[in-house]
Amino acid sequence: MIGGVDMPETNNIVIVGAQWGDEGKGKVIDHLAAGADVVARFQGGDNAGHTVVYGANVFKLHHIPSGILNPSTLCLLGNGMVINPLVLVQELTELEKRGIDTANLRISAKAHLVLVYHQDLDEANETFLGEKKIGTTRRGIGPAYADKVLRRGIRAIDMTGIDSFHDRLSEVLPLQNRILREIYNHSGYDLAELVEFYRPALERLGPLVTDVALLLDEQIAAGKKVLFEGAQGALLDIDHGTYPFVTSSSTVAAAASSGTGLGVRHLTQVLGVLKAYTTRVGEGPFPSEDSSEAGDLLRQLGNEYGTTTGRPRRCGWFDAVIARYAARINGLTGLAVTKLDVLSGMEIINMAVAYQYRGQKIRNFPMSIEELDQCTPVYETFPGWDEDLSRVRRFGDLPEAARQYLKAIEEAVGVKVELVSVGPDRSQTIICPGSPLTTWISKNG
Ligand code: GDP
Ligand code: IMO
Ligand code: MG
Repeated sequence: MIGGVDMPETNNIVIVGAQWGDEGKGKVIDHLAAGADVVARFQGGDNAGHTVVYGANVFKLHHIPSGILNPSTLCLLGNGMVINPLVLVQELTELEKRGIDTANLRISAKAHLVLVYHQDLDEANETFLGEKKIGTTRRGIGPAYADKVLRRGIRAIDMTGIDSFHDRLSEVLPLQNRILREIYNHSGYDLAELVEFYRPALERLGPLVTDVALLLDEQIAAGKKVLFEGAQGALLDIDHGTYPFVTSSSTVAAAASSGTGLGVRHLTQVLGVLKAYTTRVGEGPFPSEDSSEAGDLLRQLGNEYGTTTGRPRRCGWFDAVIARYAARINGLTGLAVTKLDVLSGMEIINMAVAYQYRGQKIRNFPMSIEELDQCTPVYETFPGWDEDLSRVRRFGDLPEAARQYLKAIEEAVGVKVELVSVGPDRSQTIICPGSPLTTWISKNG
C-alpha cells in the first residue's frame, strides 16, 4: 500500500547492452521472454540488429522486439524509438511469411518516424565527414532524432490518416527540401509523390498505433510482467558514450521509463548484457581492441559481422573498466555474459582491469575521448580452457577455468553474473544458481 493506493508488486526487467552494442541482447531477451507478458523497445530504430536463433530458425530483428516469437507476448514500440515505416512493414511481412503471428504488435503514437530524407542526410553527413565519419549505419537515425528535438518530426500518430500525414509533411517538407537542395545538392522530394510512396505503409501500420504508455500502465496494474528491450549499448549512449562516436539516443536503463512513458519505480531489475570479450562496429576509441591474430581469431570464431550492415566488427578483450562504468550509469543489478563458448581453445585470456593514463593507473572510465585516446589497457591474464562449452547447460558443468574467468568478471565489475550464454541458440543458456531470473522465467514467477 502506497499513499492509500494498492500497488501491484512489480517484477520487470530492463535489458541493456553494456558495451558497444551487439552483445547478444536479442538472444538473451528471447530466452527471458518465456516469462514475459510484454516486451517493450524504448529507444533506437532499425540501426539495431538483434539475432534470435532456435533450432534451424534464425531471425534478425531491427524494430520488432524479440518477444514477437512468442505468440502470447504483447510487443510494444515505445515513444523513445524512431521508426522507419518501410523497414517495419518489411520486417512484419518477413515474419508473417515465416508463420510468425504479429497481431500483438503496437506502436506508440508518440514515436517518431525515419523518412527517406533522414537517410539522405545521414548518408550526406557521413560522406561530408570523410575520414572523420562516425561510421553510422546510414539508416537516418541521427537526423530523425535531430528533427524530433528541433520539433519538426513526424510521429506515428501522423500515420493514422493519410490526410494528417499529408498535412504534417506539408509543414516540414519545404525546409527539408531547402536543406537537401541548398546544402546537399539533392533534388528534394515532391509532397504528393512522397505521400503516395508511404501510403501502403501507413495503411498497414496506422491501425497498430496506440497510447503505449497507457497500455503499459494497464498491464502493470493487472500484474503483468514486462521486459524492456534495449538497443545499442552503454558506450554508444548519446550522453555517456564515447561522444561523438555514439548513436543518437539514450541507451541506458533510465530511458526505459522516458522511452515508454512508464514511471521509474516500475523498473525493478536491470540486466546488463556483455560479451565475454569486446567488439565495436563503426569508428571511435576502443582501448582493448586487438589488431593482431587474437582479434582476428575472435572475429572468426565469434562470427563478428554486423547484423544490420554486415561490416566486420572490431574485436578485443573484455574491458572491465567499461563494464564497471556501464554498471554504474545503468544501475545494473545483474550481468548476462554471452559468447563464453567463443573463448574455448584460447591459451590465455586477457582482461583489461584498469587503464594506464599519463603514468597513472586509473580504474574509472575517463570523461572524454581525448583522455581515452591516451589510455592503454592494463591487462590481467587468465588461463583458458579447451572444452567445447556449447552443450553445457548447468553452471557447475562449466570447466573450472571458465568459472574462474566469470568470477573474475563479477569481481572486477562488482555485479553478479546471472546468466551465461554458450551459443546462439535459445537453449544454449545457463541461468546461474540463486539468480532471480530462475523464478522470472516461469510465467507465474
Ligand atoms: P544484439 O544486437 O545485442 O542483439 O546482438 P547481435 O544479434 O547483433 O549479435 C550477437 C551475435 O552473436 C548474433 O549472431 C547471435 O546469434 C550470436 N550469439 C549470441 N549469443 C551467443 C553465444 O553465447 N555464443 C555464440 N557463439 N554466439 C552467440
Ligand atoms: P544493436 O542494438 C552496434 C553504431 C554504429 C555507429 C554508431 C552510430 O544491434 O546492438 P547510428 O546509425 O546509430 O547513427 O550509428 O552506433 N551502432 C551500433 N553498433 N550495434 C548496434 O545496435 C548499433 N546501432 C548503432 O555502428 O558506430
Ligand atoms: Mg546487433
